[in-house]
Amino acid sequence: MITEARIQPNFESLLEKRAFEKMRREAFDYIARGAGSEATMQENLFAFSRWKIRPRVLRNVAHIDMTSTLFKLKLPTPLFFAPIGVQRIAHPDGELATARAAEKVNVPLIVSSASSYSMEEIANELGNSPRWFQLYCSLEETVTKSLVERAEANGYSAIVITVDTPVLGIRETDARNQYSPLEEGDGCGNYLGDPAFLSLLDHSPEEDRKAALQKQIDIIDQPGLDWNALKKVREMTSLPILLKGILHPEDAKLALENNMDGIIISNHGGRQLDHCIASLDALPDIKNIVQDRIPILLDSGIRTGVDVFKALALGADAVLLGRPLIYGLAANGTEGVINVVHKILHELEISMALAGVRTIQEINSDLLFKRER
Ligand code: FNR
Repeated sequence: MITEARIQPNFESLLEKRAFEKMRREAFDYIARGAGSEATMQENLFAFSRWKIRPRVLRNVAHIDMTSTLFKLKLPTPLFFAPIGVQRIAHPDGELATARAAEKVNVPLIVSSASSYSMEEIANELGNSPRWFQLYCSLEETVTKSLVERAEANGYSAIVITVDTPVLGIRETDARNQYSPLEEGDGCGNYLGDPAFLSLLDHSPEEDRKAALQKQIDIIDQPGLDWNALKKVREMTSLPILLKGILHPEDAKLALENNMDGIIISNHGGRQLDHCIASLDALPDIKNIVQDRIPILLDSGIRTGVDVFKALALGADAVLLGRPLIYGLAANGTEGVINVVHKILHELEISMALAGVRTIQEINSDLLFKRER
């Protein structure tokens, strides 16, 4: 009999295959699979392949400069590490290993609310390396406030509020595998030591760990989250706030009206709404609305340096690297993540040179051509 566990998935890359070989099957599926029919996940990649680069030549590309500035942050490259929770399921050192890589390659790390290790432990590994904190606005306002205060106290220089998870998407494979990393305690680094969270428990996590983990699952997100609720977070901090999960131009307009400091266009890597617009396809209309008033970052589907080039050409200021980072982590810890970044940056640098641009600012939509089908 052929069981699902014996069927090899279609790997997107050699890196993904290496990660598969290193991981427990349920953990690999949790990372690699998407919501529903996985149409969104596939669309994210198709969207990139529809755009082709129309290069310029004879432009003296002897020196390529990948630097830019975002808020007060000097970016050596346009890459960020996406907030990915539960990283211990990929490697025992989880976010600590990723933080060591981030520090070495000088890529800002966006630390997830649902990280395996606490934001303090991760900050410790990062030293002075730049970091942002991704916030799931909790059903319990005291917990939200406490997470924000801890982020501020630990050198996180922006808050990324994820707004595409009022409820969890339908993840069929995880349901079949009966697998939840949060239930297994792999995403509780920020909660089990948080004073506001602990005050909600009848018994300490040492006395009743299962109940504590369930409490985190119950309160991690807020189905009632709306623009009014965001105002409260705005009052909690003077740090820049970016909204992650914007896809509609009307929401981009509202983000501006509600004094948000940045937008991250994302469909959560196809893990939430099935048959959702690709992030890259959402970018041009949002750029049209936002212009250069606040930064726009592009997340979901970035796999190569050429993808980064296309996202920047369509108006993104920077991009988030998601699954490739976690596959690198699973394959070979800190070294694995570093290798992924080096490969992508090499591809970006060569693509810039071959397309005839010398700086990030010179990459524009004139260099792209959209294939009809
Ligand atoms: C995520 N993502 C995510 N996003 C977020 O805001 N908070 C989180 O805790 C997580 N956790 C998480 C875990 C895993 C295993 C994955 C794969 C993703 C979504 C992530 O930030 C990003 O949006 C996607 O990974 C982008 O899609 P691609 O490019 O990785 O396909």
